[in-house]
Amino acid sequence: MTAAESRQMRAVRFHEYGPPSVLTLEEVDRPTPNDGEVLIRVRAAGVNAIDWKFRAGYLKEWVPLELPHTLGLDVAGTVEEVGPRVSEFAVGDDVFGRAAGGYADYAIAPVTTIVPKPAGLSFQEGATLSVGGVTAWVGLFDAARLGSGQRLLVQGGAGGVGSLAVQLGHWKGAHVIATTATGNVDYVRSLGADDVIDYTTANTEDVVRDVDVVLDTVGGAVMDRSWSVLKPDGILVSVAGMPDPEKAAAHGVRTSGVQSPEIIRPVLEQLVRLIEAGALAPQVRQVFPLPEAAAAHAAAETGHGRGRIILQVSG
Ligand SMILES: NC(=O)c1ccc[n+]([C@@H]2O[C@H](COP(=O)([O-])OP(=O)(O)OC[C@H]3O[C@@H](n4cnc5c(N)ncnc54)[C@H](OP(=O)(O)O)[C@@H]3O)[C@@H](O)[C@H]2O)c1
Repeated sequence: MTAAESRQMRAVRFHEYGPPSVLTLEEVDRPTPNDGEVLIRVRAAGVNAIDWKFRAGYLKEWVPLELPHTLGLDVAGTVEEVGPRVSEFAVGDDVFGRAAGGYADYAIAPVTTIVPKPAGLSFQEGATLSVGGVTAWVGLFDAARLGSGQRLLVQGGAGGVGSLAVQLGHWKGAHVIATTATGNVDYVRSLGADDVIDYTTANTEDVVRDVDVVLDTVGGAVMDRSWSVLKPDGILVSVAGMPDPEKAAAHGVRTSGVQSPEIIRPVLEQLVRLIEAGALAPQVRQVFPLPEAAAAHAAAETGHGRGRIILQVSG
C-alpha cells in the first residue's frame, strides 16, 4: 500500500501542556472532510505565536483544547479529497489558507478559508499568509481604516504579522514607521518602511509623533508606550494584547483589537492580487522538517526574527 492509500498519517501532537518537548510525532488516523470541507495533503505549515501559546497552556482558560491536540492553522498543500457539497475545489488543486491540525501529512479546511495557490507562490510562502497576512489586513484596513497619506507606526515591523503589515501600509500609500532590533533595521526598510526605529537604542515615544494608526504586534509595555505617539482621534490597534479603552479615552484617541473573520477567502484573494502585482512578498524566516516541530517552536518562542517559521511537511 502506498502512503497516499494509507488511512494513517504522521501528526505532531501534544498530550499535555508544556515546553516544546511535549510535541511528539505520532501515527494517527487521517481525517475525513465533511460538508463544505476539503482534505489537504499538507506541503508546508506555518508556525504561529498562537501555536506555542496553545502548547504552553497560556490560553487554556479561554480556549480549552481536547488533548491530544494537533496544532497548525496556516497551511499550503494539495487537495487530496473533497467533502460533500464542495464545488469550488477539485482533487489535485494546489491551495493555501487556514486549516485545522496543519502539523500533519493531511489537514481539514473549510472551503471558506482557502484559495488556489498561484503558480509563482511557493508552498512555504503560502503557509505564511492565513494568520499573519489576514491579521495585518484586518488590523490595518478593517479595524483602523488606514488610508493613503496617513502616518502608520508598526510596532514589531520584522515579525510574522509586522513584516506583512509594513508592506501593506506602504502599498496603501501610508507613511510607514516601524520598530525593530538593530540587526533587522535594513531588512524592515527593504519591506517599504519610510522610517525605522531601532528599539534597542531609542525610545519610540521620544522620536515619533503625530501618528494616525499604531498597529502593535508586541503588546505589554510596548503597547502601553504607544498611546502618546498618536494624533488626537488616532487609533491604536493591537494584535498582541487588550488595549485599555480608559487609557485610550485619557489620551483622546481610539483603540481596537483584531478579530479575524471566520470567512477569510476574500482577504486571501486580496493578498494574492497584491502578491501577483509584486506589491506584497511573503516572508519565510526559517524552515524545519515536520519531525523537528519542537525546535521550530523553541525558535518561534524567542519572539525575535524576520517573518514566519515554516514546517516542511512533504515535498
Ligand atoms: N489577534 C490575532 O488574530 C493575532 C494573529 C496573529 C498574531 N497575533 C499575536 O501577535 C503577536 C505577534 O505575532 P507574530 O506572529 O508577528 O510574532 P513574531 O513573528 O514572533 O514577531 C514578533 C516580532 O516582534 C519584534 N519585537 C520583539 N520585541 C520588540 C520590541 N520591544 N519592540 C519592537 N519589536 C519587537 C521581533 O522583532 P525583532 O527581532 O526586531 O526584535 C519579532 O519580529 C503575537 O503575540 C501573536 O500571538 C494575534
